Amino acid sequence: MSAAARDAAALDESDPLAAYRARFVGTEDPGILYLDGNSLGRPVRDLPERLTRFVEHEWGERLIRGWDEGWFDQPLTLGDRLGRVVLGAAPGQTIVGDSTTVSLYKLIRAALAAQPGRRTIVVDRGNFPTDRYVVQGIAAECGASIAWLDPDPASGVTVDDVRGVLTGDTAAVVLSHVAYRSGYVADVPGISAAAHEAGALVVWDLCHSVGALPIRLDEWGSTSRPDAHTSTSTAVPVRRPSST
Ligand SMILES: Cc1ncc(COP(=O)(O)O)c(C=O)c1O
Repeated sequence: MSAAARDAAALDESDPLAAYRARFVGTEDPGILYLDGNSLGRPVRDLPERLTRFVEHEWGERLIRGWDEGWFDQPLTLGDRLGRVVLGAAPGQTIVGDSTTVSLYKLIRAALAAQPGRRTIVVDRGNFPTDRYVVQGIAAECGASIAWLDPDPASGVTVDDVRGVLTGDTAAVVLSHVAYRSGYVADVPGISAAAHEAGALVVWDLCHSVGALPIRLDEWGSTSRPDAHTSTSTAVPVRRPSST
């Protein structure tokens, strides 16, 4: 075994999350590392049993009573759990919603609608393609302008880059926490504070950081306005205007 492989094995052994690996299907072969997930993670082993229980009992037996017996609340209760465990967001701010793209569309539209006097959206050319397409579609639909950022492709968007394009017309700044190509980690609190100083809202795509990097939305938004954060393919943390 090489020194690097020994180091990696030692890190795995001391990893407090290592025991969770066995809960997923397909992890028996330590030689297979699933890095190219494309939004499709491994299923958990007890998924068939959980789905069967849901279909046969919750849906099959309880029928529409299921809505009052938990389904209605689940986007909120699961959202609160995600807020606590991976987002650093206090209860009452996170919901489980649509796909990231659909959520981004709704949130950017909401950011424009909330600031009728402002018509410019800031986004970077290195952002995830669907994020850019959504911004372009909304700009065309609403007659808004786009202020494009051209960050260094080897890194990502900095506070100074954002400050350089902010104006009194900026409604929303749409960025990703982790640049999907370079792995660059954006300064969320710094960029958010700069945008807020200019009176703009920020929509952060957290797809590549939730569960992988420490995230403290409440702490980072302490200077904050009601920003929005979308993450993974189903969870949509939305900060309410409690801190305005
Ligand atoms: C950074 C980023 N944003 C947005 C998306 C789009 O996600 P969805 O398929 O949930 O709309 C992805 C999907 O891989 C992504 O990686």
